[in-house]
Amino acid sequence: MNALTDKTPVVRSYFDAIAGRYDLMNTLLSFGLHHAWKRTTIRAARISGAMRVLDVCGGTGDLAALAARRLGPAGSVTLYDFSRAMMCAGRRRARQPRTLHYVCGDARALALKDESVDAVIIGFGLRNLADMDAGLREFRRVLVHGGRLVCLEFSHPAGELLRRFYDLYSYLVIPVLGRLIAGSREAYTYLPDSIREFPPPERLQQMMEQAGFREVACRLLTGGIAAIHTGHKA
Ligand SMILES: C[S@@+](CC[C@H](N)C(=O)[O-])C[C@H]1O[C@@H](n2cnc3c(N)ncnc32)[C@H](O)[C@@H]1O
Repeated sequence: MNALTDKTPVVRSYFDAIAGRYDLMNTLLSFGLHHAWKRTTIRAARISGAMRVLDVCGGTGDLAALAARRLGPAGSVTLYDFSRAMMCAGRRRARQPRTLHYVCGDARALALKDESVDAVIIGFGLRNLADMDAGLREFRRVLVHGGRLVCLEFSHPAGELLRRFYDLYSYLVIPVLGRLIAGSREAYTYLPDSIREFPPPERLQQMMEQAGFREVACRLLTGGIAAIHTGHKA
């Protein structure tokens, strides 16, 4: 990955630009479905008690807040994101649980010790990494043995009819709403483009296995519009 092919600065500038409207756009564009997808993701992560949870690419903190609710006082959630603006937008919105901590940095080189977290969750983040394989290896590095990775990401609708509707919606409606509501057509053109380029479930499962995850599994949500991928560090 060199400076010319690394999309990281552009991606960060998109999230910095839309941070104030990110949550509203999520709810509008997904017709509220992202809330249910996130609750399902947290259930899949089996979070409880004194676990140390890492929410990578945590953004405004929906998953981190849901995770924090499942923890006892000895547990902790670290929300890791390279966009300070996204994290600040989330902090302003919600009452902050004491177990939630913020770190600003790149998910591909986490400033965390080896085997220092019990679960890694990532929602709509993996797609944004310039090198997803490197990201997956990094998530495995910080997990304890037996720790779980749970990745919620957009996927590829299975049925022909849904796929056609989804393509029209993604390419005609989403960029226009992005310009009108969030003030960035570019960020909301990048969104469907990055979803289109994202690997299908079978390929992502292979990538997770190659990164060293075991018992890798996938659950499709809403006809394959999104998917939850899970695996653990043996
Ligand atoms: C689509 S948002 C998802 C936010 C949140 N997880 C959610 O589910 O609503 C993607 C987030 O990933 C962050 N991000 C993208 N690439 C990153 C990287 N390389 N390192 C750290 N954060 C990154 C962005 O700043 C943004 O907040």
